[in-house]
Amino acid sequence: QLGLAAEVFGKAIHYEETVDSTQKIAHRLAGSGAPEGTLVVAEEQSFGKGRLSRNWYSPKYTGIWMSLILRPNIPFQQAPQLTLLAAVAVVQGIEEATELMPGIKWPNDILINGKKVTGILTELQAEADRIHSVIIGIGINVNQKNGDFPEDLLEKASSLFIETGHQVSRAKLIQHILVKMEILYKLYLEQGFAPIKVLWESYAVSLGKEIKASTLTETIHGTALGITEEGVLLVEGHDGQIHNIYSADIELP
Ligand code: BTN
Repeated sequence: QLGLAAEVFGKAIHYEETVDSTQKIAHRLAGSGAPEGTLVVAEEQSFGKGRLSRNWYSPKYTGIWMSLILRPNIPFQQAPQLTLLAAVAVVQGIEEATELMPGIKWPNDILINGKKVTGILTELQAEADRIHSVIIGIGINVNQKNGDFPEDLLEKASSLFIETGHQVSRAKLIQHILVKMEILYKLYLEQGFAPIKVLWESYAVSLGKEIKASTLTETIHGTALGITEEGVLLVEGHDGQIHNIYSADIELP
């Protein structure tokens, strides 16, 4: 039932009650030839994976934990663009399904009232510099109540239920996201990243603002200027230097 609204995305759905990580299952399916648009959805993950080797809290029945297999014919350096594309699709999906207006914090955290409701993790299977498959993992806090979050997440995380005050249908939200994602993906394959970049920037909450970017090796204080054609964040440091940020944690004041 889930995928019917989109043409290709979600046509094949692997639904599971409990998994370690939907990413892992999607990797396995992609490796054994699963077609583009195959979706893995689980009610619960025992080892949900976050960015930067973190865990992702994925309790039963209250969230959307899913991974989508894509097979774009692009050089692997362009894969981060797909993460940004996915973030736009999720924002648009949430806008369709609720009255909320989420923003995006680079590269792909979706925030509502300054708190994170969604994380996106993109992983690649590539040979030489060609992509074999891209696995887009999307985790959305949907119907968790305030008291459901563990202590360490309370300050930073929220759910659609908390922000709207009512239950949100996970099935409908998945459908909305898949439809948006398919439209954006077609646009991307036909016209490249430029139109996606414009959309992404229209939802970005950090551009033009003071941010703190912590990379593995340094911490940069400065103003977020925008993103490049590759999806790299440009930050003007207090020293006047322009930094290209490929991977970092961004804090907004
Ligand atoms: C982040 O750290 O912000 C990214 C979180 C990504 C979580 C999703 S939930 C579905 C998919 N399966 C995983 O194990 N992780 C991603």
